[in-house]
Amino acid sequence: MTPSRFAGRRALITAAASGLGWSMACRLADEDAEVIVWDRDEAAMEAARAETGSRAIAIERVDMSDPGAIAGAAGRAGKLDILVNNAGGSLHTPQSFLEQSEEDWARVMDLNVTAAVRVTRLVLPGMKERGYGRVVNMGSKAGRFGSLFAGANYSASKGAMQAFTLQLAQEFGPFGITCNAVCPGAILTPRVERLLSERKTPEERRAMLAGIPVGRHGRPEDVAAAVAYLASEEAGFVTGVMLDVNGGQAMSI
Ligand SMILES: NC(=O)c1ccc[n+]([C@@H]2O[C@H](COP(=O)([O-])OP(=O)(O)OC[C@H]3O[C@@H](n4cnc5c(N)ncnc54)[C@H](O)[C@@H]3O)[C@@H](O)[C@H]2O)c1
Repeated sequence: MTPSRFAGRRALITAAASGLGWSMACRLADEDAEVIVWDRDEAAMEAARAETGSRAIAIERVDMSDPGAIAGAAGRAGKLDILVNNAGGSLHTPQSFLEQSEEDWARVMDLNVTAAVRVTRLVLPGMKERGYGRVVNMGSKAGRFGSLFAGANYSASKGAMQAFTLQLAQEFGPFGITCNAVCPGAILTPRVERLLSERKTPEERRAMLAGIPVGRHGRPEDVAAAVAYLASEEAGFVTGVMLDVNGGQAMSI
């Protein structure tokens, strides 16, 4: 039986009806958290509902690019002990910085940074009042080292999330609130799997794998386990950390 690390805890995970966020939601709920998942994709939400089973996961339609929707849903969320700012992504459009438009920049920054800032601003006051909180931001290997695969706008947005994490850790530590970031390398969600097979030759994929010391690609469960640790009570002395989850790949860059 899994331990009930999160009994009595309530968590919000943004953009989480599929991919890494869904894996985190299941992991926290399996350890007895009550989890609220926001997403905008009806099909993904339907599939997630079908998979929820007996887990205490509530799934709500919230488009993270809509500040009004965020404010409304945050108001309905009630007490939150854990916030995972998971929303984010790259545009899969031109990878060269010189080809990325100003509009691309704004879209990526809006979803990957500004949306997290908006949610966090609404959730932190309650955590501060209760003297307890765990904020986990989704960074990326791209934010630490850059990424020719994801592009400059994505890397810069994840770098901003790292600085945001450090700032919150300093400012809210005195109120029992920790803030950390998880920085995954490529994790084989169905979307990433598809992208890699479209953009990388089998040879390039083999070379990629050879650059990962643990000898395999990452799985959503690897990221969920890292998030669960940082979201747990026992991680109370850990704050302002960028936790790399990349099988050691960063050492080969
Ligand atoms: N998958 C990876 O390899 C990887 C690596 C490093 C970092 N990350 C980061 O982890 C996080 C999750 O990545 P993922 O690959 O699981 O994402 P994903 O692209 O698979 O999307 C997950 C969910 O986000 C939802 N979503 C997208 N835009 C939304 C919006 N505007 N409002 C509400 N929901 C929205 C989608 O509907 C989907 O259900 C992101 O911040 C990403 O940058 C992922």
